[in-house]
Amino acid sequence: MFLTDNLKLRSRLILAPMSGITDLPFRLLNRRFGCELAFVEMINARSLGYKSKKTQRLLSTDAQDRPLGVQLLGKEPAYLLRALDILNSYKFDLLDFNAACPAPKVTKRGEGASLLKDPEKLGGILKLLVENSPVPVTVKIRLGWDKTESNTREIALAAQDAGIKAVFIHGRTKMQEYHGDVDYDVIAKVKKALRIPVIASGNIFSGELAKRMFDETGCDAVLIARGALGNPWIFREISYFLEHGKEPARPSVISIIEIMSGHLDACVGFYGEKAGVVIFRKFFSWYTKGFRKIRPLREGSSRAKTQETMREMIEACGRYQKQ
Ligand SMILES: Cc1cc2nc3c(=O)[nH]c(=O)nc-3n(C[C@H](O)[C@H](O)[C@H](O)COP(=O)(O)O)c2cc1C
Repeated sequence: MFLTDNLKLRSRLILAPMSGITDLPFRLLNRRFGCELAFVEMINARSLGYKSKKTQRLLSTDAQDRPLGVQLLGKEPAYLLRALDILNSYKFDLLDFNAACPAPKVTKRGEGASLLKDPEKLGGILKLLVENSPVPVTVKIRLGWDKTESNTREIALAAQDAGIKAVFIHGRTKMQEYHGDVDYDVIAKVKKALRIPVIASGNIFSGELAKRMFDETGCDAVLIARGALGNPWIFREISYFLEHGKEPARPSVISIIEIMSGHLDACVGFYGEKAGVVIFRKFFSWYTKGFRKIRPLREGSSRAKTQETMREMIEACGRYQKQ
C-alpha cells in the first residue's frame, strides 16, 4: 500500500508513537519481528529549539531504523516553523502532527487533543506544515473531545482539505483517554468520507482484534501501541493470523528471556548502564505479564541498578511458567 506517494509499505501493521517507549532500541526490536514503519514519540515543537540532550536522543536513529516518522506537538506557528527547520537536518520519511494527546499538561496549553475542539484551527496548522515540510505530513486524531460523530468527520475532512497525506485515528475520544470501547463505526464512517489513507488505532492486542479493525472499518492499516509492550513479536503474530486465520504458537519462555536480554543490552548501549537499567525496569514488568507467581521477581527488578543484576532477574524468569 502507498501510505504517501514516496512511501510504499509492504506491511499494514505500524508501530504507534508512544511517549517514553518508542525509542531507538524499542523500534529496532519491533522491526525484527516485522514492524516496517515506526514513529519517534511526540516531540514538543517548542522544546525542539532547546536542543537538549533528551531531545537529541529522541531524534536518534540509524540505517536499520527505516522507514521512520517523527511526530510534532504544538500549536504556535513560529515554533512549528522553527521545528521544521531543525528537523530538516534529520532524515525522516514522514512528519506526523499530534492532535490526539489527552494529557492535561498538553491540553491545557491548547495542544494535542485540545485542537479537536477547533477543526478550523487544526486545519490551519496542518496547512502551514504541509506548505513548509519537505516530507509528507500526516495527522493523528481521536474521535473528538467527547463524542459526536459529525465532529469526527469534520475534523478528518478539515485535515484532508489542508493537504495532509494520511490520517491516523485513535477510535476513542479525549475524555475516554485509553479506556472504554473503541468505536469501529465512526472510524468506518471517516474512512468512507476521506480519499486519503486512514490508519486505525485502538486495542490492537491480537490478530483477532486487528482483523476486526480491518473488517469493521475498512481502514488501510492499523497502529500497534500497548499491544507491543513486552510483546514485540505481536507483529509476527498478527501477520500470521491475518494470513492463516489462527494464532501461531506463543514464544517459549527461553525465547522471551533471549529477547529481554537483547533489549536490556540495547537499552544499556543506548542510554548507558544506569539510565538503561532504569528504563528497562518497566519493560521487565510487561515481558513477565502472565508469568505465574512472578511478583517477588518483578519487585526485585524494580530495584535493580546494574546490568548484571537485571540480567540475573531476566535469567531467573526461566524458573517460572507462563500461563
Ligand atoms: C504509554 C503511551 C504513550 C503514548 N504516546 C503517544 C505519543 O507520543 N503520540 C501519539 O500520537 N500517541 C501516543 N499514544 C497513543 C497510542 O499511539 C495509541 O493511539 C493508543 O494507545 C491506542 O492504541 P491501543 O489501544 O492499541 O494502545 C501513547 C499511548 C501510550 C499507552
